[in-house]
Amino acid sequence: HILILDFGSQVTQLIARRVREAGVYCEIVPFNAAEAMLDDFAPKGIILSGGPASVTWDDAPRAPDRVFSMGVPVLGICYGQQTMVQQLGGVVAVSDHQEFGRAFLDLVDDCHLFEGFWQAGGREQVWMSHGDRVASLPNGFRVVGTSKGAPFAAIANDALRFYGLQFHPEVIHTPHGKQLISNFVHAVCGCAADWSMAAFRDAKIAEIRAQVGDSRVICGLSGGVDSSVVAVLLHEAIGDQLTCVFVDTGLLRMGEAQQVVDLFRKHYNIPLIHRDASDLFLGELDGVTDPEAKRKIIGRLFIDVFQEEADKIQDAGFLAQGTLYPDVIESVSFSGGPSVTIKSHHNVGGLPEKMNLKLVEPLRELFKDEVRILGRELGLPDDFVGRHPFPGPGLAIRIPGAVTKEKADILRKADAIYLEEIRNEGLYDSIWQAFAVLLPVKTVGVMGDARTYDHVLALRAVTSVDGMTADSYPFDHAFLSRVATRIINEVRGINRVVYDITSKPPGTIEWE
Ligand code: XMP
Repeated sequence: HILILDFGSQVTQLIARRVREAGVYCEIVPFNAAEAMLDDFAPKGIILSGGPASVTWDDAPRAPDRVFSMGVPVLGICYGQQTMVQQLGGVVAVSDHQEFGRAFLDLVDDCHLFEGFWQAGGREQVWMSHGDRVASLPNGFRVVGTSKGAPFAAIANDALRFYGLQFHPEVIHTPHGKQLISNFVHAVCGCAADWSMAAFRDAKIAEIRAQVGDSRVICGLSGGVDSSVVAVLLHEAIGDQLTCVFVDTGLLRMGEAQQVVDLFRKHYNIPLIHRDASDLFLGELDGVTDPEAKRKIIGRLFIDVFQEEADKIQDAGFLAQGTLYPDVIESVSFSGGPSVTIKSHHNVGGLPEKMNLKLVEPLRELFKDEVRILGRELGLPDDFVGRHPFPGPGLAIRIPGAVTKEKADILRKADAIYLEEIRNEGLYDSIWQAFAVLLPVKTVGVMGDARTYDHVLALRAVTSVDGMTADSYPFDHAFLSRVATRIINEVRGINRVVYDITSKPPGTIEWE
């Protein structure tokens, strides 16, 4: 397996994705915590990520020196290349020619990293993002690629199996980057391609059995993919020692609560406590208009209700959670200050620390799309596994202003029509998330010969890789008109439909 030292690049996780796509297990560790795990982890190769710092700074982050004396291959990317060069005796200078974005790499020599797809004399598109550049190489290194702004854009030391790239092979804008990383882990490091979801699943099942023993485990279900995958995996591992608790907030999409109950009770035969708490949630939300106040109320009630149900389960020893790898990775921060809270997130993952239960978190090593693959491996239906993300506070944050049962019902109907049309058009899987928002604005319309005075509905659809940034989906006009017509004709209470074309940033995906 491969160890990735994180120097704070925005795209370090993508390096891990590419390594795993090549069938090799890897972990990410902050550069300053790496020393301690080098021995236990015993990597077959090390990758140094990019990062925002400059090696010319006094307190510039460095890789532990042992990284270069362990006898394993090292691949330095961008900042990782620069610190490697400097630590091994070369020179890095602040460049007067900064390069950001697409660039072209001229291959001047052959190299193991490029075997099979890049050849000396060739020219390849790569993605650059750097201010500093290598000015002279340490002993034993040779140049294998150059670009306009970086004469040492790709370098190699064949004897030590150290490689450095000024560009980012992990991003899709370097079209052959994926193969380059695959070459590093297979051809250079000698790792076998044996990391597969089937193997992961079997290993996890054994691990869960060993961890849990005869104890009873509680799992909170939200209807989302992560908690569902956890539940099915645990059920495979420990059968009836598992009890699921599903808190129905009354703020789910159309038919969703029933789907969850059917899937888990009928299809999987997993013991499931279904607590319909919609009156409680809607009651406490009555008259509340502030978005953060709504989020806090829902988060608090969710924990209260979950705990009440969990307390009824005799001899529970463990709580299962769908924590994912991105939540676990300690991010490397150079700014130091606390970041601003845009929204206080709530999900099943944030359940009570005071519950006195030990945690089972079988998805801790996985990325979101790997969870989907595992879900399919476990036999969860495709349409379930491929669902768009849904926020913990549910429809409450898609009804700006005060939430009522009547408004939630109107929104559910309109949302269902919108999603049905998107599915019929074959667009569902190309969209990260699509949903409707019921606005607290009424406008005048005319239907038949009568005047109407009803709500405005906003439609939202975005593409995104991870929810951190997003673009509005470019539906064609005819499609949007068709959806608007259906909604206005079929849903009483709405007489106008608009489409939200804001990207994130500056907007967020949800409206509250
Ligand atoms: P925003 O609106 O912040 O949303 O751009 C980014 C992604 O997060 C989802 N989201 C939530 N998910 N609990 C969740 O589990 C929450 O409280 C929550 N708020 C937003 C949102 O749907 C989008 O996918």
